[in-house]
Amino acid sequence: MSERERGVAIEVARAAGDLLRRELHGPRRIEYKGAITNLVTEMDARAEAFIVERLLREFPDDAILAEERGAQRGRSGRRWIIDPVDGTTNYAHGLPAYAVSIALETAGRVDLGVIYDPSHDELYVAERGRGAFCNGTRLAVSTTTSLDESLLTTGFPYDIRVNPDNNLKEYAVFATRSRAVRRFGSAVIDLAWVACGRYDGFWELRLGPWDVAAGGLLVEEAGGQLTNIEGGPLDINKPTLVASNGHIHDAMLAILREVRVREHHRADTRES
Ligand code: IPD
Ligand code: CA
Ligand code: CA
Repeated sequence: MSERERGVAIEVARAAGDLLRRELHGPRRIEYKGAITNLVTEMDARAEAFIVERLLREFPDDAILAEERGAQRGRSGRRWIIDPVDGTTNYAHGLPAYAVSIALETAGRVDLGVIYDPSHDELYVAERGRGAFCNGTRLAVSTTTSLDESLLTTGFPYDIRVNPDNNLKEYAVFATRSRAVRRFGSAVIDLAWVACGRYDGFWELRLGPWDVAAGGLLVEEAGGQLTNIEGGPLDINKPTLVASNGHIHDAMLAILREVRVREHHRADTRES
């Protein structure tokens, strides 16, 4: 990957974020993607169209995976993974807690991640093997060693009303074994803030590739740990995720195992 990809991704993320910030308090057209909890606004489509057009103009042979329009094939072996507005529910309510996320994957490995948080004017950039930065300052995860003293963050899936595997039981246990658990509403910012050391850990049960591609690289490049909820390698195409400063990772995995084994056991007893 050259400086050009990095430069274009930064410029595009910033410009899309500036557009979102300008329009935050404008009239909003809200639609639903299946569940009534899963919103999409006209700004998701506008920001996405801007990002995709701009990237394809510069790199016409690359593939695209963008949340709203889906996959578009390419022939270069590279894929741009885009979340034009992460935190759509916040955005739809005029809450300034959302971000633009752009990642570049080559042969199945994310090598570049760019995130822009317009509300704080914070630009995050990670390149594999070269560290993670926020507005030019190098990032490092926190040094907290116990779950008891950790500030965690999580999110809940859009099918929360109909799917019993909705993270509420996991949340209940983490809430009483950590200092506190936040629910900010943007997985991309959750990951960026683990990379910054603002949060000590983040978990979520069902995410999309666009939620984790750039932010996951940030966490790794800031010295953190990233796995699926069983402790195995993260599958970017179907992510369940635990991201942490590394010190509290096993403690987080142990809680997830404890809750999920108990729930499976309960389900089995109900069925028999
Ligand atoms: C959502 C946010 C939220 C997380 C959801 C995501 P969206 O992304 O990141 O924090 O809990 O799982 O789908 O829909 O706002 O792009
Ligand atoms: Ca998202
Ligand atoms: Ca989104």
